[in-house]
Amino acid sequence: MRVKLLCAAAIAVSLCSCSFGADFAQGPADSITMPPGNRVSQTMLAGDKLVTFRSWLDIPYVEKPSEPEYQRLNIYVPEEYFSGASVNGYTAKTAPIFLPNGVGGYMPGKQFIPANDSRHGTPNASLYALSRGYVVVTPAIRGRTLANGKAPALIVDYKAAVRWLRHNKDKLPAGDTEKIISDGLSAGGALSSLLGATGNAKEYEPYLKEVGAYDERDDIFASAVYCPITNLENADMPYEWIFNGVNTYHMGPAREMDDNMKAASEALKKAFPAYLNSLNLGGYMLDENGNGSFRKYIEGLYVAAAQKALDAGENVRGLDWLTVEGDKVTGADLAKYAVWATRMKAAPAFDSLNMKSYENNEFDDKHFTEYSYKHSTAEKPAMADAEKIYIMNPMNFIGREGVKTAKFWRIRHGVKDRDTSIAVPAILALKLKQAGYDADVAAVWNVPHDGNYDLPELFAWIDSICK
Ligand code: DHB
Repeated sequence: MRVKLLCAAAIAVSLCSCSFGADFAQGPADSITMPPGNRVSQTMLAGDKLVTFRSWLDIPYVEKPSEPEYQRLNIYVPEEYFSGASVNGYTAKTAPIFLPNGVGGYMPGKQFIPANDSRHGTPNASLYALSRGYVVVTPAIRGRTLANGKAPALIVDYKAAVRWLRHNKDKLPAGDTEKIISDGLSAGGALSSLLGATGNAKEYEPYLKEVGAYDERDDIFASAVYCPITNLENADMPYEWIFNGVNTYHMGPAREMDDNMKAASEALKKAFPAYLNSLNLGGYMLDENGNGSFRKYIEGLYVAAAQKALDAGENVRGLDWLTVEGDKVTGADLAKYAVWATRMKAAPAFDSLNMKSYENNEFDDKHFTEYSYKHSTAEKPAMADAEKIYIMNPMNFIGREGVKTAKFWRIRHGVKDRDTSIAVPAILALKLKQAGYDADVAAVWNVPHDGNYDLPELFAWIDSICK
């Protein structure tokens, strides 16, 4: 019945042939005994290509789950690997493992199931990965609305899934556990960067033990990161560095910021240069007015995004914040950009004065910055545990001894994204580069708060680092 249901879902957009077990009794997979899971084989149409793959569903990845419905993963393997064939130059042994998470809003994340349900045309990232010969592993992950899902549950689970893979590496039907690539957007992008940044860091050990994660390494090969809502305790400042002076916010109906919010905007904007300069990002600095090489760098990201769009035949002309001369984009004005983009969140954008943001909820309905704690309008202001704030921030682990950060990073942020300042992913990328990692960062024209919208480019990049 379960198989039928899965097939019914798949058949809406594709062909489907399903069976249990029988097709398992052939090929090199014979010797593989996987942990209990449901085995399903199906065929789906990915673009103009029929993709057949086998699935192992709902495998618990920890021994003492606190939210058993979530702490499970699915494994999807291209059919070709069961007859010794190769796909896109990969074999059963060398196929990289694509590990997307489905986390959004710091909520529980469901498994990112292969489907033709992408908002950006078909297929979604998991199905697309299969079509290019990747093994896809999709953990479900705890989030803030579960009894046991507050910080740092999400990164504990993502790490535990990696550890499960390493523990079972000789039993996997296919896939190279030294080539794991994480992927996520927004809070899921924050999670992808956390997984990439914090490989084997000892701080997570007690949490991993508590859920019965395997005693294995949890470093990964590469991270794909879209619009990460990360560096939370420092993200309010760059939001105001960009949006200060724009006083209408658009979370729900358009509203005006009140005096407390405006005061926060002023203070946080002023505080940003000192924070930025304290990072010593290889010459990217700001003066006390928020001007300087870092500002030029950010404006340059927008210029490059516009140039790429212009070269591709898109219209980027007629915007007062962007200078286009002939066929060259020559400048971007961040102050005018903010007016054009409009402000989404009232100040402070993440650690709300009323202690009611998603991020406050992620931290147990508490503050996580000095500023908001001091200026709280909540009835009973409280500060989150410092250790939890620390281990939720990838910035704290990059370049640190005893930590194995992913070597390769691809970070993207839409030009129309107002959920966090573009300075957040930019700072992450600069910090990675400075520590010697390979970080490919870009803004993307015409894109709002979103991810996985450029799958051919994403997977061309993954191929380029894996092959
Ligand atoms: C997400 C978006 C936000 O604006 C935010 O503050 C946290 C999470 C999200 O889409 O995941």
